[in-house]
Amino acid sequence: MQIHETAFVVSTYRSHYEDISKDIYAKLWNNPSTDSLIPEILENVSAYEAILHSLRNRFFYESMKYFFESNKGGTLINFGSGFSMYQFLMDDNVSTIEIDKKDIIDYKKKKIDQWIQEKKLPNRHILYVSLDFNTLSEEEIVESLKPYIKKGPVFILLEGVLFFLDRQTTKKLFKVFKNIQRSGDIVGSVSYLPEIENTEVYKRLLHYFDSHNDTNDSFSHQTISNSYYENIDGYTLKEQVDEYSLAKTYASEFGINDKNQILNEHLYLLERD
Ligand SMILES: C[S@@+](CC[C@H](N)C(=O)[O-])C[C@H]1O[C@@H](n2cnc3c(N)ncnc32)[C@H](O)[C@@H]1O
Repeated sequence: MQIHETAFVVSTYRSHYEDISKDIYAKLWNNPSTDSLIPEILENVSAYEAILHSLRNRFFYESMKYFFESNKGGTLINFGSGFSMYQFLMDDNVSTIEIDKKDIIDYKKKKIDQWIQEKKLPNRHILYVSLDFNTLSEEEIVESLKPYIKKGPVFILLEGVLFFLDRQTTKKLFKVFKNIQRSGDIVGSVSYLPEIENTEVYKRLLHYFDSHNDTNDSFSHQTISNSYYENIDGYTLKEQVDEYSLAKTYASEFGINDKNQILNEHLYLLERD
């Protein structure tokens, strides 16, 4: 599986549980080729992947809605935005900067422009920037984004991306965030704890990626401890929750009772000092 295919898979997961994810537009990205990948993942890795990704979306949907409503608008910068659709779920006083690799950004812009014209999506102020976090320097990323950030406060989202990056690139991104954010701005981030590496379900996930890596699309399988987030320069960890706990709040009917049997991601909100 190529990394961009993971973006289609995540978006399809969200469309499976719209009332949990709150993403009423995710289904626009559904396509037969992604649909054909999903049964094997649910069967051979974990049956709960679609519900967990919908819970993840719900957490950031609620966090950003609260942030932008309290501040009467602002800018959402979505790093590794894939096919996520928060920009249409927020009010129209929110501007969005979508950042991803060129092939994703070109395809996303083309489709979104078309769907806005067809009135399948509401009009929003969206800017698209194609960047590769691995190859560009901190200064290059900051320079390419700064001219676009016109309206504070800024909520940066880094969702479903850190698993694919190494620690050096992660460090670089948090320096970029520190540079472009002001006091009170928020970063939302997602990662696995290192402990998950001992679980069977995580081993099945890695096996799935290894056995479907037809393009040598290499990535890092990064996991991150809580203490890493507690020690990021310029930020204070404000909130942390895992998908296991979110399931108790929003999806108790699914009977998710053992955190070691699921791909339990941890979600973080960090505030710029
Ligand atoms: C699993 S998808 C998640 C997409 C979206 N954030 C979501 O949660 O729906 C991972 C995304 O990270 C992007 N990505 C991975 N490595 C990247 C890099 N080095 N530079 C820019 N984007 C990257 C991929 O292209 C992909 O869109």
